Amino acid sequence: MPHLDIRLKTVAKQIQADCHADIGSDHGNLLVALLKTGRIKSAIAVENKRLPFENSQKALKGLRGEARLADGLNGIAAGEVDSLSICGMGGRSMVTIMESHPDRIPSRVVLQPNRDEDRVRRWAMQNGFHLVEEHLAWNRRPYTVLTYRSASGTDPAYDEMDDEAAFMFGPINIRRREPAFVDQLIREHQYLCRLTRLNDSSHKRFALIASILDQYKIDASRHSISDSKWDP
Ligand SMILES: C[S@@+](CC[C@H](N)C(=O)[O-])C[C@H]1O[C@@H](n2cnc3c(N)ncnc32)[C@H](O)[C@@H]1O
Repeated sequence: MPHLDIRLKTVAKQIQADCHADIGSDHGNLLVALLKTGRIKSAIAVENKRLPFENSQKALKGLRGEARLADGLNGIAAGEVDSLSICGMGGRSMVTIMESHPDRIPSRVVLQPNRDEDRVRRWAMQNGFHLVEEHLAWNRRPYTVLTYRSASGTDPAYDEMDDEAAFMFGPINIRRREPAFVDQLIREHQYLCRLTRLNDSSHKRFALIASILDQYKIDASRHSISDSKWDP
């Protein structure tokens, strides 16, 4: 069984399917773990680079899985898989992959963007995917794991939410208010307070964090965060 770090373990817990595809499979560890634990029955690894493709191929040898050398969703046909994951890339690349073949996206999708999560959340809202779970996996820094199901109508996760704050920080995270999430907001707020100048995107984040902390009735300047797991 390959070792999965906490980020990929968090992703794995969100997946249960007959046939699952992992785009950008690299080492192939996620699919091997899913197959060996019985969470999926068969797997397709898609890689657009030769070496990671060969690594995925080797990792899946002897298992009910195959590796394909292809760009994103070009590697699978419409209706071929019932679940999909993309992990460890930027949100913009994920959206580009998804937008290239919307008809090939199955009804269950798990996405772990390394940055620009807001892009992924906007894509989901505009393309009929509802957020059913959202987790922060801490591995030196927080990684967001987003679990989606295709559904009609407006996404209830965003009910009574400030959309801008929810796109940036996550509607479930904001509502759930876990200590690690609140600490992260306070830490980033304190960090941004120390900067002498903020660019437009930092200024926007600062205002959104301030509005969430205000909603929680938390004064960030009165908090000392002892845990130094993450420094933006
Ligand atoms: C940083 S690695 C992440 C690997 C693994 N998913 C993880 O989370 O540990 C990103 C992988 O995605 C692959 N990749 C990037 N763009 C891709 C695309 N359009 N189609 C297929 N694979 C892609 C890269 O070759 C690389 O192996």
